Amino acid sequence: MKNILVTGGAGFIGSAFARYMTARYPNYNIIVLDKLTYAGNVDNLLPISDEPNYRFERGDIADRTAITRVFQAHDIDTVVNFAAESHVDRSILDADAFIHTDVVGVYILLDEAKKHGVDRFLHVSTDEVYGDVHEGYSVETDPFAPNSPYAASKAGGELMVRSYHVTHGMNTVVTRGSNTFGPYQYPEKLLPFFITEAIDDKNLPLYGDGLQVRDWLYVEDHVTGIDTALHKGVAGEAYNIAGEDNRYNIEVAKAMLALLGKPESLLKHVPDREGHDRRYAMNCDKLRALGWQRAHSFDTGIQLTVDWYRQNEWWWRKIKTGEYLEYYKRQYAARLAARGAFPQLRVGVITAFFPSDCPYALAGQNYGYGCSTMRGAII
Ligand code: NAD
Ligand code: TYD
Repeated sequence: MKNILVTGGAGFIGSAFARYMTARYPNYNIIVLDKLTYAGNVDNLLPISDEPNYRFERGDIADRTAITRVFQAHDIDTVVNFAAESHVDRSILDADAFIHTDVVGVYILLDEAKKHGVDRFLHVSTDEVYGDVHEGYSVETDPFAPNSPYAASKAGGELMVRSYHVTHGMNTVVTRGSNTFGPYQYPEKLLPFFITEAIDDKNLPLYGDGLQVRDWLYVEDHVTGIDTALHKGVAGEAYNIAGEDNRYNIEVAKAMLALLGKPESLLKHVPDREGHDRRYAMNCDKLRALGWQRAHSFDTGIQLTVDWYRQNEWWWRKIKTGEYLEYYKRQYAARLAARGAFPQLRVGVITAFFPSDCPYALAGQNYGYGCSTMRGAII
């Protein structure tokens, strides 16, 4: 392993990986290739821009000519693929780019890697391929049941990776990370969106009842998990990378507001996301057996994250203009307006519809009308 191509390395997790790898392995050359879509940001790579073992190339993983040139120019022997369209809500509005990058792009990158004879191809995937996990914890052998166009596109890409291992004998490894948070995350995902809106005292649109469960993984732990799988993972295998910190969305939002010293009244229940997965949860014993362990809990991670967004307004304020504002309007204008059109219900009427361990099913709390749990209660 010497010349590592990090595709999608100008995004949130890919840039954290590039920053980590250049410092951790001075003998490796880290070549970032990124299309620089709305989510790609060269500012994420500023901390390593002068490092002698780092290079940047602009390009699309679905563009064979560009990929061939980069493989040859840098004599690539290892690929770590982060490049993806990654936001579920955008995939609901329009899935074209998801098929282009997460399916076709992965295929072309694999095919070029095979021709070039790379030694190892690590593909970064997601817990969302397992679909909605009502109880228990997903293990790597569980079947795929993706529910959003994003999750389906990631499952498609992953299956191409599997096929190149089985059919062509490629040395592939897949990682499936859980919901990741930390510095430099584009402010459309739950935490960076809510933190930056809350700093400006804006309303925070919580989908449905806010009782969806996600497993929160601090970005630096996701990166060390990928490093472990890259160096120690068995060819053809997949490895879950979980934070093993399962939280309700409303709990995550309230923890963030408390750290910012902002009122919970900023939270507004709005009509739910279509096809919204209720719960993700994974077991990661398989990766732990390779020696990985996380270094951050949700509580330490969210403190670091809130502090970073507070101290780095230069980074996110310039993102929240132009295309971002167009997306915000498409995604939230109708939802926030619909919220105003419905009366708020007292939760006492519907307590029976919450899970028995739900800490929020308390008398006196108001919940929005436009979510499936509520509809079930009214009919
Ligand atoms: P991101 O959206 O922040 O970054 C994606 C990057 O890929 C951007 O820099 C973008 O410019 C680049 N890109 C998009 N299309 C490209 C193309 N055709 N060619 C080259 N580059 C392209 O995403 P992220 O949150 O950093 O996620 C990285 C990977 O991790 C993705 O594969 C995602 O599915 C996976 N993942 C993310 C999470 C999470 O919570 N964010 C969790 C598990 C897995
Ligand atoms: P997100 O960060 O988009 O990640 P994912 O959908 O991949 O899990 O969303 C995390 C959770 O937060 C998810 O259950 C949807 C919810 N959510 C909201 O309630 N409001 C929002 O504005 C966003 C972006 C997400």
